[in-house]
Amino acid sequence: MAQASFDELPKRTKGAGRAARDGALSGGVRAPGDKSISHRALILSALAEGESRIAGLLEADDVLRTASALRALGVGVQKDVAADGAAWRVRGGSWGSLSRALYLGNSGTGVRLLMGAAAGAGAAAVFDGDISLRARPMGRVLEPLRMMGASMESRDGRLPVSLMSEGGLSAVDVKLATASAQVKSAILLAALGATGKTRIHEPVLCRDHTERMLAAFGASLSMTPDGEGGRFIEIAGDQRLTACNVTVPGDPSSAAFPVVAALITPGSDVTVRGVLLNPLRSGLFDTLREMGADLSFDNKRETNGETVADIRARHSVLNGVAVPAERAPAMIDEYPILAIAAAYAHGETVMRGVGELRVKESDRIAAVEAGLTACGAEVSSGPDWLKVHGAAGLQGGARIKTRHDHRIAMSFLIAGLASEKPIDIDDMTMIATSFPNFLDVMREIGADIIDA
Ligand code: S3P
Repeated sequence: MAQASFDELPKRTKGAGRAARDGALSGGVRAPGDKSISHRALILSALAEGESRIAGLLEADDVLRTASALRALGVGVQKDVAADGAAWRVRGGSWGSLSRALYLGNSGTGVRLLMGAAAGAGAAAVFDGDISLRARPMGRVLEPLRMMGASMESRDGRLPVSLMSEGGLSAVDVKLATASAQVKSAILLAALGATGKTRIHEPVLCRDHTERMLAAFGASLSMTPDGEGGRFIEIAGDQRLTACNVTVPGDPSSAAFPVVAALITPGSDVTVRGVLLNPLRSGLFDTLREMGADLSFDNKRETNGETVADIRARHSVLNGVAVPAERAPAMIDEYPILAIAAAYAHGETVMRGVGELRVKESDRIAAVEAGLTACGAEVSSGPDWLKVHGAAGLQGGARIKTRHDHRIAMSFLIAGLASEKPIDIDDMTMIATSFPNFLDVMREIGADIIDA
């Protein structure tokens, strides 16, 4: 079995891109590995006693940055290449400290989870990222970690952040102010190395991959409903995890792109195989069904305690809907592509409770509004809402600013596959952060996205 280096990031498609109408899409493709689960698989393995194996890891920029950061902290991370695909081996143990900065690129999940895990592991480090990550709020993670006793410095609640802690954290009892799985996970990971039992009140449920995976790695934690739709999570301190083998399911947030492409392109019939169907991730599919989408979920099976299915999407007549605010955490990354589907629908789609979109890789409310308006759609927005007045199609003929945001880039390329005139985007580089083989997958179902 050969060992591969992963310090070099995979080949990226740089420069501008163009998508144009070119007939029906068809065929079957495999969804890339889930990004959230891939980060967690690496980090939990790195904290565990023994060697863990990870199959199906998403080999995208964001996840490879986490792998490199762990290696810099002294964790044994190795990629084996075999005929039936790559397997990653992680030998966990104590983490060392670093004086040079750990560079997490564009990855909010990588940096926030690593800050929590490193604080709990008693490692000192400096965390940094690209221009987009440097603009994102870190106070939401720094605040609870400081309450636990971590010594962390940041000029303005943003990167770079220096963690001076040498361990010695204490448990906390916190209520999450934002429905953020990254914040929740940072606290859970820090709690593993704290003294005492940490209790987190999560009033609005958000993705629970960390909780599920902690249990698989042998951690002692419990979840209890709070009686009002949320829950309490309790996790014991001073715990060591035990190595575990993880198979990463396909990413529903990435599957969303070929699925919506099929729904809006006349005559299409596309299947995306092996997609994670965790109810805290599948809000987009519920919404699309309410809009009239012809979606079926076949071959449902269980992988590592998560349900996986093959999603078949056929071209559909869509109607606008009101998306309930409570659904936002279960589809938070999917609003840009939902907005594209909404432009191809008849009537108005209203998305409420989406203020968090303003602090993602870009201000996604502003990016979607500007992009769709340039393509001829009628869009309006407020601090935490977005409205798309669907006209059952898009004019296109615009060049979209992607603002260092992979999901804005992919959403507008999908929009261009069915618009009257082609749609250009200014930069395809960031697509590699979450879906490095996006262009190949789209080509496989008949969509030829080209350099512009
Ligand atoms: C993620 C949580 C979400 C999501 C992000 C991945 C995770 O962010 O937008 O892409 O893996 O925990 P927030 O926790 O900030 O909502």
